[in-house]
Order: sequence, then C-alpha cells, then structure tokens
Amino acid sequence: MPVLAMAFLSTAVQPWNPSHLDALVDDAAAFNREVGVTGVLLFDGIHFLQYLEGPAAGLDVAFARVQRSPHHMGPQELGRGRPGNRLVPDWPMRWLLADPTQLRRVVNADWSDDGTADGERPSADAAIGLLQAYLRPFLSPPSRA
Ligand SMILES: Cc1cc2nc3c(=O)[nH]c(=O)nc-3n(C[C@H](O)[C@H](O)[C@H](O)COP(=O)(O)O)c2cc1C
Repeated sequence: MPVLAMAFLSTAVQPWNPSHLDALVDDAAAFNREVGVTGVLLFDGIHFLQYLEGPAAGLDVAFARVQRSPHHMGPQELGRGRPGNRLVPDWPMRWLLADPTQLRRVVNADWSDDGTADGERPSADAAIGLLQAYLRPFLSPPSRA
C-alpha cells in the first residue's frame, strides 16, 4: 500500500504543559496505530507542526480527528507528498520540543505537491528532507563509544 505523507500547522490553545501534550499524544498514538499512521508533532510553545504518514484512508481519519480537536486553532494543511519510505516507522506519534527557527524553515518550505518548484522555495520532497534532517538526531542509533 503506498505511503502518503502530509503536514499541517496549527496554533495551540494556551495554556499548555508537557503533561497535556503527553496525554494528547498517547491518545493520538493509540488511534494512529489502529489505522497504520506514524508521525511526529513538533511544538515550539505556540505552534504545532505535525507530520503524518501512512495509507490515504488512515491519514484521512486521523486528520479528521485532528481537525475536530478543541486543543488547537486553525489547523492548516501544508501539503501532501509521497516520501517513498516512512520517515518515522516506529513512532505512531511522538512530540518533540522544536526550535522555532527550525520549525519556521520547515513550515516555509513549499509543501505543495504539484512538482513546480520555482527554484526559490524547496519542493515538497525538499520540505520532507528538511524535516528528515531535523529529526535525524532523534532517529539515529546511539553511537558506540
Ligand atoms: C496538535 C494535535 C495533533 C493531533 N494528532 C492526532 C493524531 O495524530 N491522530 C489522532 O487520531 N488524533 C490526533 N489529535 C486529536 C487528539 O488526539 C484528540 O482530539 C484528543 O486526544 C482527545 O482529547 P479530548 O477528549 O480532550 O478532546 C491531535 C490533536 C492535536 C491538538
């Protein structure tokens, strides 16, 4: 089954604390597991950038739940792509505290999947590449001493 990827941006309803997010992500992960979705939620204290990957049907139902959530405002889809392989195959969902500058770079990449990157903004593939670079330290196996 082909793996699709999507990303969205939203603004958290304040106040937030890590235990809220832990509970929300546990709930999200339990649902995502059922529908074959994996992904990551980057949070800089104000904005969420969520990356989801999986079969189209799974993404649709997970994103429908995202859109219904009262815990954030204005979820806005950034784009969809075909990453080939999953970026985060072992994460039904996980949240990471994000550096706002890095988050903005990933958000500002062109997530549109129309293949018409104008040379000034990276294509959707490049946007996924930026995200991959950001996640690499969290994904790489521990180095041997
Ligand atoms: C930023 C954000 C990301 C979410 N991601 C997912 C997700 O990946 N999968 C999912 O099924 N639900 C997702 N949700 C929905 C929440 O898991 C769900 O609405 C919440 O845990 C239910 O809590 P409540 O009963 O307090 O509304 C997300 C919600 C928010 C705000």
